[in-house]
Amino acid sequence: MSASTITPWVIGNWKMNPVQAQAQQLLNEFKQLLQDHGIAEEKCHLGIAPTMLALSTVQAQLSDAVRPVYSVAQDVSRIAGTGAYTGEVSAELLLDAGIGYVLIGHSERREIFADNRDSLNAKVQNALNAGLKVIYCVGESLEQREAGQAEAVVLQQICDIAGVVAAEQWANIIVAYEPIWAIGTGKTASPEDAQAMHAKIREGLKQITSYGASMAILYGGSVKAENAVELAACPDINGALVGGASLNAQSFHQIALAFANTQ
Ligand code: 13P
Repeated sequence: MSASTITPWVIGNWKMNPVQAQAQQLLNEFKQLLQDHGIAEEKCHLGIAPTMLALSTVQAQLSDAVRPVYSVAQDVSRIAGTGAYTGEVSAELLLDAGIGYVLIGHSERREIFADNRDSLNAKVQNALNAGLKVIYCVGESLEQREAGQAEAVVLQQICDIAGVVAAEQWANIIVAYEPIWAIGTGKTASPEDAQAMHAKIREGLKQITSYGASMAILYGGSVKAENAVELAACPDINGALVGGASLNAQSFHQIALAFANTQ
């Protein structure tokens, strides 16, 4: 049983998956599981981050679920408002479409799509100013971990955004710790290692913001039904950002149950 009083979050990051027919089937199965084996909203918040293309459809399909399941954008433009920016979707447009949450700083965006400190600062600032809640992702590479730099890298990534987040806006940030070497590899950080890093993140947050003690810190990286219970038992792991396993309704539901049962 976790000692935490923070309501956990379990968010499925679908990345660039799946095709529409599969998405529909996945959501139908998931809604049925929620109906058959309820998970109260106060025990665990749930979110799904589909592709930008599917966001509105997924949101519409989730609207008749037995409980709230929030739609989450996987990214947002570094440009605010509207204008001639081909291919971009701004925070204001997301909000206008009824989307309240966005992932920012996922390592795949940092590594493959060149997100850096400046672009991430702009995205975080725009998203918060528009009224979105941000799931800010941090995490070290294997090389950095092996060089003993994991903590410093992760804490720096958090400090990076401190200059653009107003004092009261920290209440609208969730941090997701996703060690890059654990993403899609089947190698999860051990609960001890994950908890140790989460505790460091918590300490760092407490130094930056008075919300530090109450902010949810999610773990991501090969979270599965099989390891969710152990991870959920760690006091500073307040939920999961789930990639591959969120594409299976039963696995995703079991992960959510694992976190809900700590409450
Ligand atoms: P996997 O769960 O597939 O390792 O992905 C984790 C992740 O990147 C979630 O954002």
